[in-house]
Amino acid sequence: MDNHIKIFDTTLRDGEQSPGYSMNRQEKLRLALQLERLGVDVIEAGFPIASDGDYETVKAIGKAVKKSSVAALCRTKKGDLERAISAVQHAAKPRIHTFIATSDIHLEYKLQQTREEVLDSAVEAVRFAKSYVDDVEFSAEDASRSDPEYLIEIFTAVIEAGATTINVPDTVGYALPWEYAELIETLQKRIPNIDRATISVHCHNDLGMAVASSLMAVRKGARQIECTVNGIGERAGNASLEEVVMALKTRRNSMDYTTSVNTTEIYPSSQMLAEITGKGVQPNKAIVGENAFAHEAGIHQHGVLKNPLTYEIMTPESVGLTCNKIVIGKHSGRFALCKKLEDLGYFLNKEDLNSIYSQVTKLADERKVVEDADLIRLLAKASLDRRQESSHQSAKIMGG
Ligand code: KIV
Ligand code: ZN
Repeated sequence: MDNHIKIFDTTLRDGEQSPGYSMNRQEKLRLALQLERLGVDVIEAGFPIASDGDYETVKAIGKAVKKSSVAALCRTKKGDLERAISAVQHAAKPRIHTFIATSDIHLEYKLQQTREEVLDSAVEAVRFAKSYVDDVEFSAEDASRSDPEYLIEIFTAVIEAGATTINVPDTVGYALPWEYAELIETLQKRIPNIDRATISVHCHNDLGMAVASSLMAVRKGARQIECTVNGIGERAGNASLEEVVMALKTRRNSMDYTTSVNTTEIYPSSQMLAEITGKGVQPNKAIVGENAFAHEAGIHQHGVLKNPLTYEIMTPESVGLTCNKIVIGKHSGRFALCKKLEDLGYFLNKEDLNSIYSQVTKLADERKVVEDADLIRLLAKASLDRRQESSHQSAKIMGG
């Protein structure tokens, strides 16, 4: 089995569905072009039936993006499908992504349809999409809470109708990684025509398991991961793209898989999303948070400055950050302070360094972090004090 994992980015669709993350057409277009630079295989550009604005946006992204596939989401209703097909008609690599729920709870309370009715509309939708677009993905919404026997039945039928990707969403983020892996393994083993389709995973992060579940699924045969920049998405979000990609890259010794992502575009993509939406990234967010490569504790700073591998499992440069951050705080040591001051252009002798160090630790007790500007101010004050001291001394000598 091929070991290449397709990265399907849904920042512009599932990501945008989260409160406070809506973007206008220009912003989405800008981000889509960045996602293309990032090297994702598929960009899910929107849900064209949702609004005229979404339709026009998907259309504009389809025209602009050349390397990545551009996917439009739609339910299995004819009107949805027509709108989605029309929206991606100019895309270099169009994909139709159609979905319907398959769990009994969704069938009973949301769709009020029988399993047979749902299966028929899934097959009909895929067949219809396939008559316009080659690349058709079918998602069984709430798959992780659906009867696996029914999933086998519906996935077999949609592959027969032309689906080239079958997606197994953990829509409500309920599955535990090993349960989800077991489901993927069952589907991989028991769907008779699975060799004609790619298994995709789409995990939500309600229990904080989205990335772990996605990676476990890959080990059982999934070859597409659906994810978002900064992990944004409905409720607690989707699997985070940067975590999935960097886990695969950093731990290739344990998971021998590749992606097409240019990881040095990860940080710029994260920053662009934060800038567009005005929603910052939590400081301790893996890979892209402002503390992800920051070191404050003296022992850590000392180690990292001697050899970054002591406390860093990947380089900041590999995700597009130009350097790691030495943060001066109350846990910092002289070694890190000396290095920081040298970076700022100040080369101090031991005595001056000791004196500044004690002032810095005092200041760090009062505030959380000592900024570069604080250091410069302390240095300026120290040199003024020294000048005053020496003129005082010479005045005393002259006077004496
Ligand atoms: O979470 C989900 O089930 C979805 C589908 C539309 C793929 O977002
Ligand atoms: Zn989702």
